[in-house]
Amino acid sequence: MHQLMLKNIAQLVTVRSNGARVKTAAGMRDLGVIENASVLIEDGVFLWIGGPNDKHPALSEDATVVDASEKIALPGFVDSHTHLVFAGSREDEFAMRAEGKTYQQIAEQGGGILSTVRATRQASKHDLKRLARVRLDAMLQHGTTTVEIKSGYGLDEESEIKMLECIQELAKEQYTTVVATFLGAHAFPPEFRNSREAYVDLLRDRMLPYIGKRGLAQFCDVFCDAGYFSVEQSRRILEKARELGLGIKVHADELAPSGGSALAAELRAVSADHLEHIDEASIALLKNAGVVATLLPGVSFFLNHSYAPARQLIDAGVPVAIASDFNPGSCMSFSMPLMMTIACTHMGMTPEEAITASTLNAAAALNLSQVYGSIETGKKADIVLYDVPNYRYLAYHFGTNHVSLIVKHGTILEF
Ligand code: NIG
Ligand code: FE
Repeated sequence: MHQLMLKNIAQLVTVRSNGARVKTAAGMRDLGVIENASVLIEDGVFLWIGGPNDKHPALSEDATVVDASEKIALPGFVDSHTHLVFAGSREDEFAMRAEGKTYQQIAEQGGGILSTVRATRQASKHDLKRLARVRLDAMLQHGTTTVEIKSGYGLDEESEIKMLECIQELAKEQYTTVVATFLGAHAFPPEFRNSREAYVDLLRDRMLPYIGKRGLAQFCDVFCDAGYFSVEQSRRILEKARELGLGIKVHADELAPSGGSALAAELRAVSADHLEHIDEASIALLKNAGVVATLLPGVSFFLNHSYAPARQLIDAGVPVAIASDFNPGSCMSFSMPLMMTIACTHMGMTPEEAITASTLNAAAALNLSQVYGSIETGKKADIVLYDVPNYRYLAYHFGTNHVSLIVKHGTILEF
């Protein structure tokens, strides 16, 4: 038995939900903050949480005790949407965009996703892992303890499997909790430029059954948007995924209002992601289907695109999460505090809503909110201390890392 006690935490932001899967509407502002709090962790799980006047259980002789006065604590961030396994980089496209080219124009000229596909196909699994490990460790150092990673830069059988095996091995070897998503439908590969339906068949009839059988992914995602996969093609792929027992996610309504969110609601997806161009009718559909809306503030910021209507979604009662979408094209940042800053400055979210969206609701976007995303007894002990005077300061003082101590499954991580 190992015990870890964090005591005198100036502000403990629990994000407690008392068993609820998600927080919605005004509930997203309720962070369950305890001042001068202490937390006792045993064998990787929160055993006791209390305020200055509460009596904690007796400590074992070899318990580790950390004084956390003048620090604040939050649940480890859950980054529920990333493309962090990739080779190469795209700073040249960044420069082209600075000169006025758009993301879509660059993609039409063979850049964009397909440029990362070329680099990722050439890389060995060993090289992909080496690159990804560095990123996962840096994310941990910024307070992110759970990360979803998508395939989708392979776009052929061999390379997609290589990516998924890489993600699976990272999940076993890294401290971070890693969740794998199959995104074979990220773009049409050059070999299928003129036979798109044949690629959909390949995904549905060969790749998905193989991935399902080997348990290489927990979720299946599709880039359902103008110029990418149509609603009909997306439905064919996702229905097969559901049949195989995978959870469903959709890249929806990013470039145009293209019906992706409505499809997510119809298929009872776990999340619909992006939503920069979602319409009012689809907002109601998401609400009724209980789909988590995962917003990606860093993408709108980095591509200078419009922002998703966070205020409308929250006010309509849709559970909103935010994620980084970390990838070499549309958001080359994995800082969750930076995503919170952008959510507050450009999307009308409050600091409280941004925290709920990055923790509990993000865990719900991975079907993990009974285990992660809040500091409550019985949950896995992922907790991060920050050197700031209060929780609002975290998104307010942006562009710097305030992390002072990272605890993953009850273990203090040293870097
Ligand atoms: O989520 N929207 C589609 N895919 C990624 C971008 C990937 C890339 O540009 O490499 C996204 O933004
Ligand atoms: Fe994405």
